Amino acid sequence: MKILVTGSAGYIGSVVCELLIEQGHSVVGLDNFGNGHQQASIPGTMTYNANVNDEEQLDSIFTNHEPEAVIHLAAKSLVGESVTNPSKYYGANVVESLALLQKMTEYGVTKIVFSSSAAVYGEPEKTPITEKQAPNPINPYGETKRAFEEILKWYEHAYGLRYIALRYFNAAGATSLFGEHHTPETHLIPIILDVALQQDRPMKIFGDDYETPDGTCIRDYVHVIDIANAHIDALRSLEKKPSGIYNIGNGIGFSNREIYETAKQITGQNIPLQITPRRDGDPAILVASNDKAGNDLGWNAKHSELAEIIQSAWDWKKKFPHGYE
Ligand code: UFG
Repeated sequence: MKILVTGSAGYIGSVVCELLIEQGHSVVGLDNFGNGHQQASIPGTMTYNANVNDEEQLDSIFTNHEPEAVIHLAAKSLVGESVTNPSKYYGANVVESLALLQKMTEYGVTKIVFSSSAAVYGEPEKTPITEKQAPNPINPYGETKRAFEEILKWYEHAYGLRYIALRYFNAAGATSLFGEHHTPETHLIPIILDVALQQDRPMKIFGDDYETPDGTCIRDYVHVIDIANAHIDALRSLEKKPSGIYNIGNGIGFSNREIYETAKQITGQNIPLQITPRRDGDPAILVASNDKAGNDLGWNAKHSELAEIIQSAWDWKKKFPHGYE
């Protein structure tokens, strides 16, 4: 199948493209390289350097490449920044993304897999979180993801667009080629591994007074390879099954302290630790129920043992100590 991947040079996009190509699909990428990296593309893959609302470039893509489906990952994704600058988030994640849907409608492309987020849930009502929990985002990032899910629903109703929205939990890990490199980096695992390698500062854990067994927050880490495969399973599902929204998580939670201890073991490094006050907006526990994705998409997390996640991220870190810089 020929697929347009937006955000193709980002952390998840690069691995989605890698696996699509490995599994015999053909890919055309679109990335404005705001967060993406030139080096995060498979050599020989055609990547358009443009925004998702660049009509001229979209016309060229849809005319010259005739993709049968779109995987839409391009987005702004820093929760903290979304609170201080919501305009940027509504602009990129909703307004610009609408232009992409418009072009899909115009060219008769009716299948889309959309990168949503566990951030749509806000504070969980129950753990593990099922898709039945009503969305209640607590930041503009989550709001924009929720808004786009709703847009997809109405585009299906009006224009026959078929969609699968994947609500990722905590993406982590790497392939031998592609890994996690954000500027600034705010995520737990890449920061711990950077501290392990650079030995230039303590690892700060934000709060140990949560209502969890060791007092630190619990998250659901899912290997980026498993996340990427979920997109391919979703495309397959769209061939014959209805649209839908799915959690993509491992179904098991690990505390920040457990992540820290496992990283110490795997890296063999002494990682200095500092417990600091809580970070604003962090729920104590976020763990997915992944039953629906298993039942409907046939998706299972196959690489999301914590040791495999951290080992793969560490291998990548040692190979690319400064990421793509
Ligand atoms: N943390 C630290 N120290 C750090 C960085 C993070 O203690 O230096 C802690 C956080 O406070 C949190 C945990 O590690 O308790 C995980 O934090 P991340 O920033 O790695 O990930 P989040 O769970 O905050 O965010 C992830 C995605 C978001 C998504 C959110 C949905 O990155 O895009 O899950 O729940 F919105």
